[in-house]
This record gives sequence, structure tokens and C-alpha cells, in this order.
Amino acid sequence: MDSIVLLALIALLVVAISWLWDYTVVRLIWSPYRTTKEFREKLGFHGPAYKFLKVNNEEISSMKEEADSLVLDVHDHDYFPKIAPHYLKWRAQYVILLALSMCPPGCNYLPTERNRRKWMLEKKLRNTLIQIIQLRLSSKDGEYGNDLLGLMLDACASDKQGEVSLSMDEIIDECKTFFFAGHETTSLLLTWTVFLLSVYPEWQERLRNEVFRECGRDQYPDANSLSKLKEITMVLLETLRLYNPAVFIQRKPITDIKVGSLKIPAGLAVYIPVPIMHRDKQIWGADADEFNPLRFQNGATRAAKIPHALLSTSQNFAMLEAKAVMAVMLHRFCFVVSPGYVHAPMDLITLKPKFGLPVKKIVVE
Ligand code: HEM
Repeated sequence: MDSIVLLALIALLVVAISWLWDYTVVRLIWSPYRTTKEFREKLGFHGPAYKFLKVNNEEISSMKEEADSLVLDVHDHDYFPKIAPHYLKWRAQYVILLALSMCPPGCNYLPTERNRRKWMLEKKLRNTLIQIIQLRLSSKDGEYGNDLLGLMLDACASDKQGEVSLSMDEIIDECKTFFFAGHETTSLLLTWTVFLLSVYPEWQERLRNEVFRECGRDQYPDANSLSKLKEITMVLLETLRLYNPAVFIQRKPITDIKVGSLKIPAGLAVYIPVPIMHRDKQIWGADADEFNPLRFQNGATRAAKIPHALLSTSQNFAMLEAKAVMAVMLHRFCFVVSPGYVHAPMDLITLKPKFGLPVKKIVVE
């Protein structure tokens, strides 16, 4: 018995040591230095020196702090120097090589202030969702509601004669995905669209006329009329181009790959800067920095020199949702940004107006 315990302990120790070796030595030391060296020596690309654990976070924070005080004119849509100054500075000097902030193995389990807050928020969110789900499951008429959660519960119940076939954890995960991936992104798309339509009132008027023409003055838009609102779609796409809620898209190849002449090793995180890609004059034309929804008059794939130039176009669901809300707003209100608005887009995982977007609205007669 004792020898089995001893063997199990030795096996555990070997697993722990090899995991620690892989995480600390390979991932945090060997890999970043080897990749930097390979890029420098084989491809001639340089980058800011890699710093163990800290990576380049201190330099990034200080550059961001300095740029944070920049305020833009409302007609100036080039906010990238404000939200990612390090990217522009280092791009001009080198090809950027950053992995992100790293924490030593096991740090996610330590009761630090940050972790305790994270755990508290996770628990609160989970309990809130469990309460909502249980309330639905206990409904007397057996109806779970006609929203997404209701549909999920309904599908689970009908598959397994009353038994829920997705676990509670799976349903909670689905709710989190839809809420966090779907709510803030779409609401920011609407925020920036309201901003742009306030700055370009001629477009606001044009869209309002389209809503009246296609939906009628006395009727709210419905599924049928929404599909006819082409100019609103053009403006939403132009908003996604200039003020995409997603600032960076990340890719990590699972095997070594080549992009042009660049060899990217497996596991190296590549950050694709959406605002820069969306302002490339070679792809979008000389007016790439300007708000011009007409570029989308023949659809998203014909607006630029390459069909998929508009990254993160979001899904049809988000576009439909945004279109419906914009159509109702335009139908009922004229809006302008309040004189106190400060144009300071900031990158907080998504692109947000730093001081909010105060607007004045006037009811349309
Ligand atoms: C304007 C609205 C939206 C924008 C700009 C947006 C943007 C994005 C971006 C940039 C990604 C990462 C894509 C990639 O790495 O290739 C993503 C992923 C995702 N989004 Fe959205 N999104 C929007 C709306 C929504 C909505 C409404 C939902 C759900 C209701 C949603 C659910 C998801 C999910 C589940 C993923 C992960 C997909 C995966 O793992 O491959 N998004 N979105």
C-alpha cells in the first residue's frame, strides 16, 4: 500500500515538475527569447526587448497614460494614436513582438485582491443566472419564455422528455457568451452610430427619410420593412469600419505557418489592429480616414479592393438588432451630441467613448 502511495506521489511530482518546466522555462523564458532571436537573425525584424514576466507592460502603460490626455475633434476619426501609441511607435521602429501580461503558474488561485474580486463577481453572476433559469424551469404553464434562454430550455426539455439535456453549467456558459459577446458589442455599435449621425446630420436626415419612405410615417419598422433599409445598413457598416467595437483580433497558429515571407511559429499570438486595417488607403481608397457610407452601396464585400477587408463585420443577428433599434430611434427622434461631449475613444477591451456619449434628443413631429 505504502509503495503505491509513494509511486503515486512520485508520478504527481514528475507531472508537476514537467508542467512547471514547460510553463516557466519553455513558455516564459525560452520561447519568447528564441522567437525574438529568430525574428531578428533570420528575418531582420527587431522589437522592444522582452522582459521576463513584465513583458513590455510598463512602457505600454506609460505611453498610454501620456496619450490618454489627447482629445480629438469630432470629425477626426483617427483615434488609434490615442488608444495604442506603443503599437504605432514600435511599428515605426520594428515589427512588434509582445506576448500579454503573464502571471506565474498558479497565480490564478492565490487570494489576491484582484482574484478575490474576480471570484466574487463570478459567483454573483452565476447565482443571478441560476435564479433566472430556475424561475423559468418552475413555470407552472410549462412555458419557458420566448427569448433565447426560453428556446434553449425548451429544446433541452423536449429532447429528453422533461429532462434538461444541457447541464446547468452549459446553459450558464451560453448565457454568458451571448450576454458578454453580444450585448456590449452591439450596444457600442449603436453608440458610435448615434455619434456619427450627430456629427453628420445630413446622413441622419437621409436615414430618417429612408425609414419614413420604407416603413411609413405612422408605423414602426417591422421585419418586412427592415430588409429594405439599405442606407441604414451602409451607415452601420461604415461605423463598423471606423469605430469597430473590437480593436484587436487575435490569432495563434497551431502549427508553424508562413504569411508572405514571414514565418510565424506555432503558438505565437498575432494581434491584428482593426482600426489600422480599416484605414489602409491602398485597400479602402484615398478617403479611408473619412466617413463615407456610400462606399458600402454595393455591399460589404465590394466596398474595398479586397472582398474581406471589413474585419469583424459581426453577425447578421447583431446587424438586424442594430438596424431595428436605429430605425425606431430615427423614426421618433432627431439627436445631436451635447456640447459637453469630449471625443476621446478608448480601448477597454472594446472601443468606448471615455466620457460617455451625452446626446440631446428632439421628438420628431
Ligand atoms: C456589432 C456587434 C458585434 C461585433 C463587432 C462582434 C465582434 C466579434 C469579434 C471581433 C469576434 C472575434 C472574432 C475572431 O476572432 O475572428 C467575435 C466573436 C464572437 N462573437 Fe461577436 N460581435 C458582435 C456581436 C455579437 C453578437 C450579437 C453575438 C451573440 C449573440 C456574438 C457572439 C460571438 C461569439 C459567440 C464569438 C466567439 C466565436 C468563436 O469562438 O469563434 N457577437 N465577435
